Amino acid sequence: MEIYDDKAAELLERSYQTPEIVNQRLRTLTALAPKSGESIVDVGCGTGLLLEQEARAVGSAGRAEGLDFSDAMLAYARKRCVGLEQVGLQQGSAETLPFADAEFDALSCTQTLLYVKDMDQALREFYRVLKPHGRVAIIETDWSGAIINSHDPEISQRIFSAWGGAVVNPNLPRQLRPILAQIGFSTVRVEAVPLLNASYSEHSFSANMLENLAATAEKQSFISSEESKSWLQGIENLIQQDEYFFCVNRFLFTAVK
Ligand SMILES: C[S@@+](CC[C@H](N)C(=O)[O-])C[C@H]1O[C@@H](n2cnc3c(N)ncnc32)[C@H](O)[C@@H]1O
Repeated sequence: MEIYDDKAAELLERSYQTPEIVNQRLRTLTALAPKSGESIVDVGCGTGLLLEQEARAVGSAGRAEGLDFSDAMLAYARKRCVGLEQVGLQQGSAETLPFADAEFDALSCTQTLLYVKDMDQALREFYRVLKPHGRVAIIETDWSGAIINSHDPEISQRIFSAWGGAVVNPNLPRQLRPILAQIGFSTVRVEAVPLLNASYSEHSFSANMLENLAATAEKQSFISSEESKSWLQGIENLIQQDEYFFCVNRFLFTAVK
């Protein structure tokens, strides 16, 4: 799965404006509770959707930094945050944050740690750049718990395995709480954030994912081209019969330094 190029940025921009991800951002912001005048950093800021909201929350007296590996993602974030002088954007890695110790009141990192090779190092960096009592909010997904109504559940399982297996840390949610505590974070809280499509809508998270899910599994030889076509056609038939159903859980971790 290529996550850094123009096509990935365009897909993210589209699929992350669906109601489920809008709700995910609201849950993240509510948990992080950025206040006017605070400094905040969004690690793996992508196209800047969360960063823009954080910047508006801290206001012109505050500071909102966005960091991402991908120039294609940062190009969207730059456009989105034009005119917000409190925003700084830079290319960089979660494993070596280009900030001094204790610079930030809050840090967010959503759907990014799954791609980070040295995840422990990234979490130590999060701890380092936060002020004492600084807050962190992390969102991660475990695709092994994904469900979709399909005429062939076994193919669905292979498709979800391929999708989850394409990242470095596919099962982080089940491991993250004690890791955060070991690094020194306290008050670690975990909440589920379901991405639920109990019926079909074109403007939904899963509708934007279906072809990509099948294509990724096919590319990695988890399914054949025939299986991919038949799976997508089967889902299309269920949509026509109003029998569509999809759900995967994301998990929101919050903690304090
Ligand atoms: C699925 S996107 C999520 C974007 C954003 N956090 C959001 O929720 O809208 C994952 C992002 O992580 C970035 N990324 C992946 N590995 C990274 C790393 N080691 N350091 C910084 N960014 C990274 C990618 O470029 C991509 O923009």
